Amino acid sequence: MTSLHDTSVRGFASDNYSGIHPEVLAAITAANDGHQTAYGSDVYTARLQELVGEHFGAGAEAFPVFNGTGANVTALQSMLPRWGAVIAASTAHINVDEGGAPERVGGIKILNVPTDDGKLTPELIDREAWGWGDEHRAQPLVVSITQSTELGTVYSPDELRTIADHVHERGMRLHMDGARIANAAAALGLPLRAITRDVGVDVLSFGGTKNGAMLGEAIVVLDPAASEGLTYLRKLNMQLSSKMRFVSAQLVALLENDLWRRNAEHANGMAQRLRSAVEAGISDGSVRGVAFTQPTQANGVFAVLPEGVADRLRESFRFYDWDEARREVRWMCSFDTSTSDVDAFVAELARLTTA
Ligand SMILES: Cc1ncc(COP(=O)(O)O)c(C=O)c1O
Repeated sequence: MTSLHDTSVRGFASDNYSGIHPEVLAAITAANDGHQTAYGSDVYTARLQELVGEHFGAGAEAFPVFNGTGANVTALQSMLPRWGAVIAASTAHINVDEGGAPERVGGIKILNVPTDDGKLTPELIDREAWGWGDEHRAQPLVVSITQSTELGTVYSPDELRTIADHVHERGMRLHMDGARIANAAAALGLPLRAITRDVGVDVLSFGGTKNGAMLGEAIVVLDPAASEGLTYLRKLNMQLSSKMRFVSAQLVALLENDLWRRNAEHANGMAQRLRSAVEAGISDGSVRGVAFTQPTQANGVFAVLPEGVADRLRESFRFYDWDEARREVRWMCSFDTSTSDVDAFVAELARLTTA
């Protein structure tokens, strides 16, 4: 088969618009020959378990799955009884971007809290952390936070520790949606365990896809007491891959030789370059009417554009509206975003805002 798409078309729509990192693709090929036991009893999944132990600490257990929604729903189901509820930011992927799967597939009530920057705090959690023992209220037993957040912000280790302590003191458990955990760890210059296990996260949805995998994430159980029945729930939720060696091989490639960090550092660096270039343009007048709505701490840039600019800019580069009513857009950078992508994009933004 020949390529069916124009490979010169690039953009800032999402970190899953990019392809597969060559080292991940090579790992899939390396895992390909011969036969291996299906459903996870293969040497690549065993190697993944070893690496998860190295990165997250002994005893951490990985359950490879197909996608992030599956990881989140299955992880949360394993943490909650039938009557349980999860507290999350209103911007959380589980609240707005999973098609109702937590509710409809997981049977989980989400208690969502508005935030300024996608980050929960103890005070924000307490808006919904009440009513235990009241049979009329779904019981808030898990808090889910996203790192880095859907708004491109990053929780510091201190913020995470404070949240985890707060959550645990109230008898709840902490889940982290780590679809972009690599970006957060790279931004903070910390190992993965420093912003997960070491600060009290109980169960993590570990992201591979946005970090250069073709497909594949893993539920990583950091405290076995916080999660039950994942072996069965993963199958029940249609997230058990028969050819699991290929999901695991991708995650192995990311976790070996710090490819996860190299990819995330690159994506974060491109977002910084984009932001700095636009800021420089605002200062010298070559970019007009653009304002940022969030700090750029990982690989996403959020900005408000003058009327009509987004659609014209989209004629050359794909990206999404974030909040159409206030003309807010999201620009995401990926492991394969190049400096020339960024520079061409900023040049076109400058042209359109000064035309
Ligand atoms: C914060 C967050 N969580 C989870 C996911 C995973 O979603 P998917 O089910 O598309 O893999 C995404 C992808 O957009 C995300 O941004």
